Amino acid sequence: MINRVEELKEAALSAAAAAGDEAALEDVRVAYLGRKGRLTEVLSNLGGVPAAERPAIGQAGNRAKQEIGAAIAERAGFLSDSRLEALAETEAIDITFPAPPLRRGHAHVLSQVRRQLEVIFERIGYSVEEGPEIETDWYNFEALNLPKGHASRDVQDSFFLDPGEETVLRTHTSNVQIRGMERIGQPPIYIVAPGRVYRRENLDATHLAGFMQLEGLAVDQGLTVGDLKGTLLYLVQSLFGPQRQVRMRPHHFGYTEPSFEFDTICGRCLGKGCRSCGQEGWLETGGCGMVHPQVLRNGGIDPERYTGYAWGFGIERIAMLEYDVEDLRLFYENDLRFNRQF
Ligand code: DAH
Repeated sequence: MINRVEELKEAALSAAAAAGDEAALEDVRVAYLGRKGRLTEVLSNLGGVPAAERPAIGQAGNRAKQEIGAAIAERAGFLSDSRLEALAETEAIDITFPAPPLRRGHAHVLSQVRRQLEVIFERIGYSVEEGPEIETDWYNFEALNLPKGHASRDVQDSFFLDPGEETVLRTHTSNVQIRGMERIGQPPIYIVAPGRVYRRENLDATHLAGFMQLEGLAVDQGLTVGDLKGTLLYLVQSLFGPQRQVRMRPHHFGYTEPSFEFDTICGRCLGKGCRSCGQEGWLETGGCGMVHPQVLRNGGIDPERYTGYAWGFGIERIAMLEYDVEDLRLFYENDLRFNRQF
């Protein structure tokens, strides 16, 4: 009988040692120590054993139970440790690993170009002036020699804010010309005014209903078209490099006389004509001219003493030329894959 107990113990110990996972180990425990387990069974059948031998068998049985229990507990600890180790191996989050760098935000490309333009003009003594986007008919049109019924009002197809058409989303930054003269008072006046403007446009790759312009205005004694051209040349060369020329073509604006459109020589072909400038050699950039005497008068300035020049162009247009962007809409879609390039 004692031998039987010893046999079972040895068998249980080696089964425990061989159990490959926690479930198999539990099976071993049930098989030997459970209520119907093999050792339990043997020990509950002591009835047929002579009374003198029972205590010794009982002791051996209890020792066997303890040893098996201890072996199972130890094996269980080992199995659980190695399960966790394996888990750590396969699902590791290494908290000592350096974190990927955080992406920093930055100013939108149009804000960058706007600031770049401000700095270019600040360097030659211009200050930055701001005007309202909601404007009266007077500042946006009337004071600029664009009376009601004037053809260029139709061209500009405005967003009026009232049925009487007295209030309008400004159609250009030229509203800051009169406002600037009024605020500063007497010349010298050298200002640039960047900002949003609004027009009824059908949206496409080169037209938006809301976009940005940069207006410039200089009023001083003895200013000429030569000063205007020199300023535009300085602008274009500051932006695009010293080999870029400017050309002025006669045009008409109500608020300048004479008026011009100005072009920048194409950076690819330098005037020869290529695909990127539509064989023109030149890229349309903006409008400009000598401030009309009546506009000076409307701003409280004596046109007999002072002359002035002014210009206006689209900031997106400059950004397109600077970065070779072909569709204006990209600037406003806020696709981060686009925005992050600048
Ligand atoms: N306001 C014009 C536009 O919206 C641009 C412009 C032309 C501005 C001539 C000027 C100027 O200051 O003198 O396209």
